[in-house]
Amino acid sequence: MDFRVDLAIVEHLAKGCRFGLTLHNLSEKSHANWKLNFAFECFVIPDSLSQGELTQVGTFCTLNVNETPLYANNHVYVEFCTATSAFNLLSDGINDAYLDTDAETQLPVAVSPIVLGAVDDRRVSLPEVGAGRHALIPHPQYMEFGESVFELTRYSQICVEDQSMQCVANWLSEEVERLFGLSHKSIGQQDIRFRHSPVLDSEAYKLTVDGSGIEIESNSNAGFTYGCATLIQLMDFDHERHTIYVPHVRIQDAPRFRYRGVMLDSARSFQPVTEIKRVINLLAHYKINTFHWHLTDDEGWRVEIKAYPELTDIGAWRGPTHPLKPQLHSIGDYYGGFYSQQEIREIVQYASDRSIQVIPEIDIPGHSRAAITALPDLLVDPEDQSHYRSEQNYTDNVLSPGISGTYQFLDAVLEEIAQLFPAPYVHIGADQVPVGVWTNSPSCRELMAEQGYRNPKDLQGHLLRYVEDKLKSMGKRMLGWEEAHFGSKVSKDTVVYSWLSEEAAINSAKLGYDVILQPGQSTYLDMAQDYSVCELGVYRSHIITLENAYQYEPLVQLHEQDPIKKRILGMQAALWTERVTSPERLDYMMFPRLVALAETAWTQDHSKDFHAFLSRLKPHLQLLDRQDVRYRHPCQRAKKRMADVQHSKPTLLNEFKFSPIRISSCNTATSITRTENMSSLVPMPPLLGLTT
Ligand code: ACM
Repeated sequence: MDFRVDLAIVEHLAKGCRFGLTLHNLSEKSHANWKLNFAFECFVIPDSLSQGELTQVGTFCTLNVNETPLYANNHVYVEFCTATSAFNLLSDGINDAYLDTDAETQLPVAVSPIVLGAVDDRRVSLPEVGAGRHALIPHPQYMEFGESVFELTRYSQICVEDQSMQCVANWLSEEVERLFGLSHKSIGQQDIRFRHSPVLDSEAYKLTVDGSGIEIESNSNAGFTYGCATLIQLMDFDHERHTIYVPHVRIQDAPRFRYRGVMLDSARSFQPVTEIKRVINLLAHYKINTFHWHLTDDEGWRVEIKAYPELTDIGAWRGPTHPLKPQLHSIGDYYGGFYSQQEIREIVQYASDRSIQVIPEIDIPGHSRAAITALPDLLVDPEDQSHYRSEQNYTDNVLSPGISGTYQFLDAVLEEIAQLFPAPYVHIGADQVPVGVWTNSPSCRELMAEQGYRNPKDLQGHLLRYVEDKLKSMGKRMLGWEEAHFGSKVSKDTVVYSWLSEEAAINSAKLGYDVILQPGQSTYLDMAQDYSVCELGVYRSHIITLENAYQYEPLVQLHEQDPIKKRILGMQAALWTERVTSPERLDYMMFPRLVALAETAWTQDHSKDFHAFLSRLKPHLQLLDRQDVRYRHPCQRAKKRMADVQHSKPTLLNEFKFSPIRISSCNTATSITRTENMSSLVPMPPLLGLTT
């Protein structure tokens, strides 16, 4: 490549870092006028540049050093400051870059790994454990093994009592074929029997394996699905004999929490339909019953809305010459995608066949840049002079409660969403509305005066109450992040998803809201899993190891009998995808931590034990291997990756295709923000005036 960019931490400041950026021209041609475009997750303090100017929209930075030509076989050096000093991983630097010159645009630029200075040399270790007798995760409530095994062959059949159970039987049959290559013949023995049991609770099941065969009893398709998931984990396949052995066992099982979810962000990175289905199918194996689908954000709108085709024609795509500028990764490309309504219906049905409900999230009023860019005539308040900067460095990403277009947009979008997704819930986001928004908008001021509001938070509440009423009129219950009750206007029917801390969950429950727990400190699967600089993921103030994920105990600080606990509907894990750009990386971040969290969601706390979990995980990994799930090996991978780096030639980052991270910093062990801590963004003197 003719160009390369290096980034090094030059100095750690009291609050922040000073960086040196070097752009090398390795070619024989000089360029008088040039601009370097790059993706960088942290906010660059505008007046900190040693030369030139830098504009930044989200993660997309353009450096323009007007007076300095980029001479052949030479370089240009620029320093700048960020307000955060949390740089720990090789992927914390520039993630992708290209150069525009007078003559040509989008010239590729190689990116070297960031020079971090001191690195964290701690390493996570796990206790040595032997392989467990079985590989069941989550651990069932009650189980008793017999001495013998039952044999399933290609002549084994599944027998259902009525047609409604057939889709679960089909799933089991498909999974046995996919995992073991054992397809069923049309004749044979009725070896697996599904039996309806009116006495069991709705998600409970019984599984009995003895000399007469395999019987799953339940009161619901969900229970049959969980019985099948357990059965699959008990199977031991003998290739030569084309036989599956299942140990004799009696299991009686039911979940600890009625809501067991996983959130996937399809806005920052887009996953095609096949990938979404692959993920949903994996979730079914861990008795997850909710797929929370983050479909819209600043960086992309991913769901077809017939009333506004612009949302996907424009808002689903980003690129150098596109209204939505490149972000995060693949910055020289036209990047994006969306799900057609037909595809969504297909995915919802696919999930339902696996007893998983799909809950869509349409993020309102913040995180709306893709929608606003797609529909400026409807969604931009032309008189709004307010200044704000969102956590992810956007200055134009919030819907306005002061203009009629916002309500027109919300009505149309929510009507189509309500039709598309049969679940009786819609998640409306509501997180991270930036300080300063709406303060200088005549229409918002007018609305405040008319309603007697004193604070912009009241405006947020006003808008969300409108959304709640709209959803209620369509038979849907509103769900939102913990900020959804800010402004105290929404009803207590709203379900709050706490993410910043456990305290937020307790406070919301005390206020009378039902709560889903998704504390970032334990359930955010985009966080790195070890301290090595080579780890994938985000590592600001902490990492989430497998043990951290497993040991998360919801609201442990509350007494067993505390009535607040009744408000906790369940918990979920979340995968934000700013840097999850491929199925390999998705697997690496999700597994096996998701397996650990699934056990907490399903298994009663008194049956949880980390050593016992590890010894079950050991044989369980074979099931993931069978499916080519590229999980992070709990013991070996980090060491290997470190060794790879130490003994290999330096590698350019965009050869690794590292993608940028979700701007994020966690400043205390108990709180997490998804980006830089805004309070630390105090104005700083110009760089050149700084002393050490
Ligand atoms: C969130 O992480 N902003 C919900």
